[in-house]
Amino acid sequence: MSLEVFLGKARFRNPLVLASGTFGYGLTHTHVIDRMGAFVTKGITVQECVGNPQPRIWDSRETVINSVGLENVGLKRFKEETLPLIDISTPLYVNLAGVDLDDFRILIESLSDEEKIAGFELNLSCPNVKEGGAALGQSADRVGKVTSLARSLTTKPLWAKLTSNFCDVRETSKAAADAGADALVLINTLNALVIDIKGRKPFLGAGSGGLSGPAIKPYVLYIVKEVSRQINIPVIASGGVTSGTDVIEYLLAGASLVQLGSINLVDPEAGLRILEELKRYFEQEGISPAGIIGRLEER
Ligand SMILES: Cc1cc2nc3c(=O)[nH]c(=O)nc-3n(C[C@H](O)[C@H](O)[C@H](O)COP(=O)(O)O)c2cc1C
Repeated sequence: MSLEVFLGKARFRNPLVLASGTFGYGLTHTHVIDRMGAFVTKGITVQECVGNPQPRIWDSRETVINSVGLENVGLKRFKEETLPLIDISTPLYVNLAGVDLDDFRILIESLSDEEKIAGFELNLSCPNVKEGGAALGQSADRVGKVTSLARSLTTKPLWAKLTSNFCDVRETSKAAADAGADALVLINTLNALVIDIKGRKPFLGAGSGGLSGPAIKPYVLYIVKEVSRQINIPVIASGGVTSGTDVIEYLLAGASLVQLGSINLVDPEAGLRILEELKRYFEQEGISPAGIIGRLEER
């Protein structure tokens, strides 16, 4: 039974995508990456970035709250040192993080001709970096401007990764689609605060962080359902997946691909287990992923 999914002309061997920031640059666990539908790198900024002060992670059974920030090697080292080392058979998507149009211009102009790169995920949504992606992603106007600039600079697939923090994600989704994005990634982490009551101050070094993991899944499912019914480009879900059942729920809600994020921090081989669960489901049901996308029925 084939699990393949097409987004336009781009083929994915199955609907699973390893989410940005939860699997590094794809240099380890390649036996997992090579079984997935696609892989997204950690966010790349123009300049090398050391990220936020410690502590950077607070977690419980149901949630991760991270304030890693955009710790990454920066464009020059990514292109010259990291990219040549990436050796995967799965489509490689590079997550691009910028604070303004110039950043995105520099990033895309530098990377667009790289044959190894299948496409770009525009990080319009990172809530962790002051004056960062959040400011861009919260306004439909700015989302539209970044996306249309990116569209003018590359013919590779463009995924716009959006936030729902302090904004109407239906409007930013429409702006990204109108500006030429090939798909929407819904959503990045939610703004979150952990308080150390003894110290009477925030627990995380950066002051606040981004909430992810199973607790956000019902919320993201709702957003995926609403947006995918209103916007005419594919939606890629990102939020709280830990099982094959979660993936099937997202497909029914209207997602064409589904990202695995925080679960990779718990178990880097989780993607393999989830893939087996999906295979079993689709074999038993005698249908394909494409056959259930958006097929959620009304109550
Ligand atoms: C530690 C950590 C680092 C992340 N780094 C990035 C990043 O660099 N760029 C980005 O767009 N999203 C980043 N994310 C967000 C994830 O890609 C994903 O969208 C989010 O965690 C929701 O999915 P999940 O609930 O499956 O984790 C990060 C998430 C975590 C937990």
